[in-house]
Amino acid sequence: AGGQPTRPQPPTATYDSAFLKACRREPVPHTPVWFMRQAGRSLPEYRKVREGIPMLESCMHPELVTEITLQPVRRHGVDAAIYFSDIVVPLKAIGIDLDIKPGVGPVVEQPIRTRADLDRLRDLTPEDVAYVTEAIGLLTAELGATPLIGFAGAPFTLASYLVEGGPSRNHEHTKALMYGDPQLWADLLDRLAVITSAFLKVQIEAGASAVQLFDSWVGALAPADYRRSVMPASRKVFEAVAGYGVPRIHFGVGTGELLGLMGEAGADVVGVDWRVPLDEAARRVGPGRALQGNLDPAVLFSTPEAVEARTREVLDAAAGLEGHVFNLGHGVLPTTDPDALTRLVEYVHTQTAR
Ligand code: CP3
Repeated sequence: AGGQPTRPQPPTATYDSAFLKACRREPVPHTPVWFMRQAGRSLPEYRKVREGIPMLESCMHPELVTEITLQPVRRHGVDAAIYFSDIVVPLKAIGIDLDIKPGVGPVVEQPIRTRADLDRLRDLTPEDVAYVTEAIGLLTAELGATPLIGFAGAPFTLASYLVEGGPSRNHEHTKALMYGDPQLWADLLDRLAVITSAFLKVQIEAGASAVQLFDSWVGALAPADYRRSVMPASRKVFEAVAGYGVPRIHFGVGTGELLGLMGEAGADVVGVDWRVPLDEAARRVGPGRALQGNLDPAVLFSTPEAVEARTREVLDAAAGLEGHVFNLGHGVLPTTDPDALTRLVEYVHTQTAR
């Protein structure tokens, strides 16, 4: 019994897109662009369809999710769509009592801090998130050759919301648990890795062309703590989805000192915020991985000339990279002028046309 011969993946509708080529570090017709938090946030057409519908509820209606996900693709001509949802959706789906408070973020009624609390983190099944499978089916039919990015929160960032009970500046309860009870911490992150892996698999099997693991708040840690207390769980997630052959993107804020380790955890593409220039980020990450980033989202509040000048600097720093996906260094800020985003996509495309 010789086992399956290794064959290339059958070409999908999105396989030859600039976005997937850049993720695979292949030559591209132009540098692909998408924006973290492009769905929702600054678009008036988003506010209109969301009127009167709470955030978490809006994530459970496939037609609404499809419409919101497509809005920035239509308006800006970005090279990829990101699935409209939130990092806490899989936790809500397994019965964790949480809500997203407008202007605040995710709030958890009963924080997770003891070994007994771990039992509340049961495995996620595809049936728990049937609306995700349905929405991605609708979306990929509409998107055609434009790739859809699925996503999840990384174990550390999810743990920070669960342990703190909400958004936190200093992550004191989270770090207290991590430093004070390393075994309980490791078990918590492992549970979250299992849930996150299952959630990403649902999205890939439904048709997502790439996945991004958001470890937004992990920049709060020193490299030694990241390596010891976070990397095993994040690696477990990346390994769980490695066999699908879809690019795996890994992003966090303030992660300049962690970029190498975040690549090592198993990412094909490492997201970089605006604090580290992309050429320096490439030295820290090392060969064999593409980079994504990294215009300061606040630059979009400046003049069109300043936006172009700062974008030019990002493109120049990216000139020698093996693969570059243009993005902001963090999500679109809520009061950003949508026209500034449309102009930015156009500018990157024309400047990098080959
Ligand atoms: O990128 C996209 O456009 C897809 C949708 C998306 C949302 N949240 C929708 C959302 C994505 C990818 C996320 C990820 C997310 N959620 C992260 C990681 C990305 C990052 O910014 O670092 C984090 C940390 C969260 C947790 C969360 N949810 C926060 C901090 C907030 C903002 C609170 C606020 O109102 O300022 C949310 C709510 C949320 N998630 C909104 C949207 C569109 C706003 C809620 C609303 O419109 O009522």
